[in-house]
Amino acid sequence: MKVLVTGGAGYIGSHTLLQLLRERHDAMVFDNFSNSSPEALKRVKQLANADFEICEGDIQDACRLNEAFGDFKPEVVIHFAGLKAVGESNEKPIEYYAQNVSGSIELLKAMQRHDCRHIVFSSSATVYGEAEYLPYDEDHPLRPTNPYGRTKYFIEEIIRDWVASWRHASAVLLRYFNPVGADASGRIGEDPNGIPNNLVPYIAQVAVGRLQHLNVFGADYDTRDGTGERDYIHVEDLARAHLAAIQFEPTKSGCEAINIGTGRSTTVLEMVKAFEQASGRAVPYQIEPRRDGDVAHSLAAVGKAERLLGWQAKLDVDDMCRTTWDWQSENPSGYSPD
Ligand code: NAD
Ligand code: UD1
Repeated sequence: MKVLVTGGAGYIGSHTLLQLLRERHDAMVFDNFSNSSPEALKRVKQLANADFEICEGDIQDACRLNEAFGDFKPEVVIHFAGLKAVGESNEKPIEYYAQNVSGSIELLKAMQRHDCRHIVFSSSATVYGEAEYLPYDEDHPLRPTNPYGRTKYFIEEIIRDWVASWRHASAVLLRYFNPVGADASGRIGEDPNGIPNNLVPYIAQVAVGRLQHLNVFGADYDTRDGTGERDYIHVEDLARAHLAAIQFEPTKSGCEAINIGTGRSTTVLEMVKAFEQASGRAVPYQIEPRRDGDVAHSLAAVGKAERLLGWQAKLDVDDMCRTTWDWQSENPSGYSPD
């Protein structure tokens, strides 16, 4: 299939691109490199031993999108591009609405102009907000608690209306839980800017010696060991879910929201232990107060992904830690030269 991948140079995009190329899909990456490096694409090319097109541009730029669609004529779009930091979204909400919501609207307009009827969208479990029950299934009420989460919610609704208005159009809204891990090659992985906000990249930087210790945000939750529980999903499994979604889409019109998680949870301290085992390094930590906005538990109901996409996670927490460690230890400064 001809697949336009917005944000294809980013963390999840680059892993998905690699699988698309390995499965012999034709790809074009559309990215402004605001949070990624062209080096990631170079490495994907080497790993896949296959070529693809790159269009440098911003999804808010209708002209550039027009050029990309006109040149490449994609059959389906996988839409990763956007800003994703919860804290930053509280400080710069308009920037988040502009890039994420307005950018997605420009993208949908370009798709319509060029008769491209299928989209897979990177949504997030953050659209659910405070849990009324767990695991979250796709019918759980949507009450995101920050501007980033609200951009995901609004885009989901906009895509639903877009699909409803157009015959044979379809969309899959993938609600990712907590993506972690790296490609088994150790050549591509997550390369956060500055000090990481998320748990596993932070632990990895402690293990490699870039940061001194982990701050554990809260050990007084009502969980197995008092620390926060999350449903971590390996980025390779997550990438595979996108391939399943593009196979599924043309067979069905309409819009489906689908959780992508494992249905199993891990606490912060369990993750620390698993990482120590995988890396053979100590991960010192300190217990700190709870982080604002955090919840105790998050867990995905995964039945819909199995039913509709025939997809299931295969990799476990040990795989997540091992591949993160391989990536981090071989690339201590990420994609930047050391
Ligand atoms: P990332 O920042 O690594 O990748 C995003 C890519 O999009 C980057 O290459 C960036 O340069 C590009 N980009 C950003 N704004 C753009 C714009 N206006 N025009 C063109 N390109 C632009 O993020 P990621 O972790 O790979 O996440 C990909 C998607 O998945 C995002 O939409 C994110 O919100 C969503 N998501 C991520 C997580 C997570 O934990 N990583 C969880 C749930 C959902
Ligand atoms: C965060 C985002 C969420 C996003 C998800 C992507 C917030 C409030 N939510 O969720 O929108 O979709 O990332 O993966 O930012 N922790 C520590 N020390 C750290 C970092 C984290 O103890 O240095 C703990 C947290 O308190 C939490 C767990 O580790 O219990 C996971 O945190 P994190 O990786 O940031 O993910 P989420 O909070 O689930």
